[in-house]
This record gives sequence, structure tokens and C-alpha cells, in this order.
Amino acid sequence: MRAGLIAGNWKMNGSLQSVTELVEGIKAGDAGKAELAVCPPAVFLMKVGGMLADTDIALGAQNVCNRDAGAFTGEISAAMLKESGCRYAIVGHSERRSLYLESDQLVAARFEMAVKNGLAPILCVGETLYEHEQGVTEAVVAKQIDAVLDATGIAGFAQAVIAYEPVWAIGTGLVASPEKAQAVHAFIRGKLAASDSGIAQQVRILYGGSMNASNAADLLSQADIDGGLIGGASLKADDFLAIAQSV
Ligand code: 13P
Repeated sequence: MRAGLIAGNWKMNGSLQSVTELVEGIKAGDAGKAELAVCPPAVFLMKVGGMLADTDIALGAQNVCNRDAGAFTGEISAAMLKESGCRYAIVGHSERRSLYLESDQLVAARFEMAVKNGLAPILCVGETLYEHEQGVTEAVVAKQIDAVLDATGIAGFAQAVIAYEPVWAIGTGLVASPEKAQAVHAFIRGKLAASDSGIAQQVRILYGGSMNASNAADLLSQADIDGGLIGGASLKADDFLAIAQSV
């Protein structure tokens, strides 16, 4: 049985004060049966990690460098993230892919570096609106996953989480229907099962894209939707916890 995971991707939002209040609000509330993770901006990782030390809430980074150490200005290594208390690192978020031109191969290298250092990558995959309309969702997602399989083999997924985030649903208020999301999640699991059925059954596949307290229960009731990667609604403690309670 896969434990439900609700992860907040705070993106580039917040201040020291608002982040502190958000963590206090999440800690004070009830997440029900869900496992929780939060992914603050990197400058706040140590602060948030310190506040979460007496809780089961996990800390995650929003990206991780594909290199060990050295002259890579602006990047943060997996070892640094580990030392800062991270359990997770998001890789391949669509905003990284589209706005910062991260290729499938770069994302795969970041994923590999996370795994090598004992971080659990949260690999984001998903199709753009154009790809959605062209009906090529499965091909796009397969290509994104194949790049990672080429880098780490199926073994890399043993400690990974996947987030299916249709790009057209991110921050738009448009959400994939539970049935359509389930179909893509089942496709992803089936693809992994072709290499290793045990890992495929164990890997958690989160949905992301305009998930909120009103639509979470329907999405999370689907057999292959094991949680959510939440953007906007993770910035308010009550909304984030309400989603968690739907698990
Ligand atoms: P929204 O929940 O704001 O649509 O963002 C989803 C997302 O990108 C999480 O990584």
C-alpha cells in the first residue's frame, strides 16, 4: 500500500516572515493520514528545516545540481541539500523545462545526482497544452521518463516519486479530470512495470496542476493517484491541510 504524499511546491514565493507563519500554521493543523512535504525557496531551507525538526513533515528542494561540486554558479549540490535536511528534491518541473530550457537529459542528470546522494527525486513530467490537444500526452511523458531510465535504469525509481503535472493545468485553475489523470498515472506505472513490477507498484505518482481542497478528494480516490504536488494552494496552511485531509 502506497502512503499518500502531499507536497507543497512554494516556488519563488514568500518572505522570511510569511514562510515562518506558513510553517507554524501547517504544524498547528491536522494533516489526517497524509505524509506531508514542503519545498521552500532554497534560501529558506535551513530555517524551515529547523522549524520542522520536531515533526514528521519532510523538507524538499525545488531543484538540485547535476554536478557534484565546483564552478557552477547559482547551483546547489545534492550533498548541500542533504546537509540542509532535505529528503526530497523536485527535478524537471515544467517551469524549469520551459523557462530555463532544461532538457530531458539535464533533468535526468539532476535526478541521477539526487539518487546518488540519497535524496528522493520528485520527477515532474507532463505535456503542454499544444501536446495535449495533439493527443500526444503518453508519448511526451514516455520520452521524459525514458531519459531518466537511460541515466539510472529502473533502479533509480526505487527511491523516487513521480509527479504528473499537465502544463496546461499548472496555475490556471484548469484541472485534469480524475479519469484522465488516472489514465496517465496508470500509463506511467505500466511503463515502469515493463522494467520492474515491484518498483512500479511501490513508486508514488502524484498529480499536480490546480489541485485544491475542492477537487482533491476526487483526484485522490483514483487507484494510481498517490498524492499531490501543490503550488498555489500550498501557500495557505488551511488549504494545504484541507488537501491533505482528502488523502
Ligand atoms: P498549482 O497548484 O499552482 O497549479 O501548481 C502546481 C505545480 O506546479 C506544483 O509543482
